[in-house]
Amino acid sequence: MGEDTLGGTLAIKAEGLSLGYAGSGKPVRVLSDVDLTVEKGEFLTILGPSGCGKSTFLRAVADLLPPIAGHLWVLGKAVSEARQRREVAFVFQEPTLLPWRTARQNIALPLQVGKGSVSRSVNPRTDHWLDLVGLSQLGDRYPHQLSGGQRQRVSIARALQCEPDVLLMDEPFGALDEITRDRLNDELLAIWRETRTTVLFVTHSISEAIYLGGRVLVLAANPGRVQALIDLASLKDDNGAPRREGPDVQETAAKLRQLLRVGGA
Ligand SMILES: Nc1ncnc2c1ncn2[C@@H]1O[C@H](COP(=O)(O)OP(=O)(O)O)[C@@H](O)[C@H]1O
Ligand SMILES: [Mg+2]
Repeated sequence: MGEDTLGGTLAIKAEGLSLGYAGSGKPVRVLSDVDLTVEKGEFLTILGPSGCGKSTFLRAVADLLPPIAGHLWVLGKAVSEARQRREVAFVFQEPTLLPWRTARQNIALPLQVGKGSVSRSVNPRTDHWLDLVGLSQLGDRYPHQLSGGQRQRVSIARALQCEPDVLLMDEPFGALDEITRDRLNDELLAIWRETRTTVLFVTHSISEAIYLGGRVLVLAANPGRVQALIDLASLKDDNGAPRREGPDVQETAAKLRQLLRVGGA
């Protein structure tokens, strides 16, 4: 996680950014005029009605989708450069593990497919990442021998082993039961504190967005755009620990619920 020369303290900067998809005719615009800066080390959660462009935004940050208009920098560089330097990692809702590989082998995989690393078949740090996500005893299991939550832990470990400066998470816990999700929320925050990686975390859950985020970005649909950007610092304890309860937490949840209702129209 070296210092970059251009970016200073910014992980993400979007300026007048518009995103969309090429249809049969001209591109269909999904998100328009996004202006956003995210500091290095921030935990930004992203809420918005279904189809407003949350995944599309993460795809652009990961250099999987070129902008229609405007500018997007990751760590002060073009997104393509950040991707080539493997500074950005992605965790999806469905853990995309290879079924014929053990948890440990799945975590080691990106090193093997990465450029210039064909000869390195074993990552000596793999066990470190297994340990960090609480799976040190289960490294030799295959995906079908793991629970949904454990599989998602493997996916997170696989993303972390690239030691990304920016970690993109697209509803990673959306398919899990609430208790597992709460536990993974705490584990993720512990990992975030340890690694200081910048996290962009998309969720459908207002309470998860409040609990995890230092700020929450609210997107609106039709047309897709930034609706609000809300600082959540006042909702943390004095020592920075997040809270799930409290009148101020409820108040923010109600405000977000209202924003989502308006923005979904
Ligand atoms: N590959 C694609 N081609 C064309 N349209 C797409 C594609 N992927 C997503 N879309 C459209 O872009 C919009 C935003 O999608 P998405 O970013 O996945 O929304 P969200 O993640 O907020 O639910 C939706 O209307 C969706 O239908
Ligand atoms: Mg999505």
